Amino acid sequence: MIVNNIEGEKVLVTGGAGFIGSALTRELLKKGANVIVYDNFLYGDKSNLSEIHESIQIINADILSWKIYDTIKKHKVKYVFHLAAEPFIPYCYDNPEKFFDVNVKGTMNVLMACKTLDVERIVHFSSSEVYGTAQYVPMDEKHPTLPLSTYAVSKLAADRLCFVFHYEHNIPVIILRPFNCYGPRETQPYVIPEIVSQLSRGNVVKLGNVNAKRDFTYVEDIAKGAVNVMEAEIPDGEIINLGSNKTYSIKEIAYLVGNLIGYDDIKIEIENLRLRPRDVTLLQCDYSKAKTYINWEPEVDIREGLKRTIEWYIENGKHWTWERLV
Ligand SMILES: NC(=O)c1ccc[n+]([C@@H]2O[C@H](COP(=O)([O-])OP(=O)(O)OC[C@H]3O[C@@H](n4cnc5c(N)ncnc54)[C@H](O)[C@@H]3O)[C@@H](O)[C@H]2O)c1
Repeated sequence: MIVNNIEGEKVLVTGGAGFIGSALTRELLKKGANVIVYDNFLYGDKSNLSEIHESIQIINADILSWKIYDTIKKHKVKYVFHLAAEPFIPYCYDNPEKFFDVNVKGTMNVLMACKTLDVERIVHFSSSEVYGTAQYVPMDEKHPTLPLSTYAVSKLAADRLCFVFHYEHNIPVIILRPFNCYGPRETQPYVIPEIVSQLSRGNVVKLGNVNAKRDFTYVEDIAKGAVNVMEAEIPDGEIINLGSNKTYSIKEIAYLVGNLIGYDDIKIEIENLRLRPRDVTLLQCDYSKAKTYINWEPEVDIREGLKRTIEWYIENGKHWTWERLV
């Protein structure tokens, strides 16, 4: 049942110029929401919002600044999706403080502003990384949280902060835990964009741990799930997983991408520098809770999702945002 109809309402998306945030913004526009993107454009890019920028308001600011309060107040924001974060795991080893500042203090700042200004619901983007490597599969929301990177620890701290703010201050927040997401407009050199990028230039791909298995979900499915979570009757403080319950190894993804690009065969070269021995080795989502609350199931299978991703990459001049900056 819909309890928060977003049609015609002011909806703020922190991190809305990023990979998932820009897909979410498109989904919100389809639903008739008035969207305000709040992003400091550290990783987000105006090109991610190019054909929709006239239909939204863009605030270029940091979640650590008072401007979040000012923006929510000025625009009388009713609903907030909180995605702004330091999300790229390989950077966190050298920058743990930065990850805690943005992911934990930044989240607290957003929560405090929402509390003071009586925002009606916050959907906070946590991550499946808070679980660490699977102790059992598929992984439901009761799976132990054993984060294996500073990024994951900071996401778990923020996730728990959301719960406690609900518990102590009655803040209406729902915690989403998406599993790995892929699709057009990625802003970080994750493995799928890396594979697409390398294989679009020839049939050789240099990779690290090709046996790690992940649960990949197409970005539009995650965006639709997040919108449904905002609108549905769900008790405050709940945690909801979004993922596909299907796993693919990195090697399988490389062969799939190679096949979709049109190669008869590809060559995988293992580079020691790319190996991340402390990486999570297996993630697989149990999304039954999302199915129960919002009747959500992923619609785009891996082949179709990769096909769309490759097409977007080629149409956009074979450049991800970070490749354009180089
Ligand atoms: N990509 C995935 O597979 C995945 C999976 C699970 C959870 N998540 C979570 O989803 C969210 C979005 O991730 P994404 O993959 O789209 O990453 P992204 O880097 O594309 O998006 C993050 C956005 O936040 C902005 N940002 C960063 N620091 C900011 C600050 N201090 N103030 C304002 N804006 C700031 C960036 O410019 C960027 O646009 C993150 O919270 C991430 O932890 C992502």
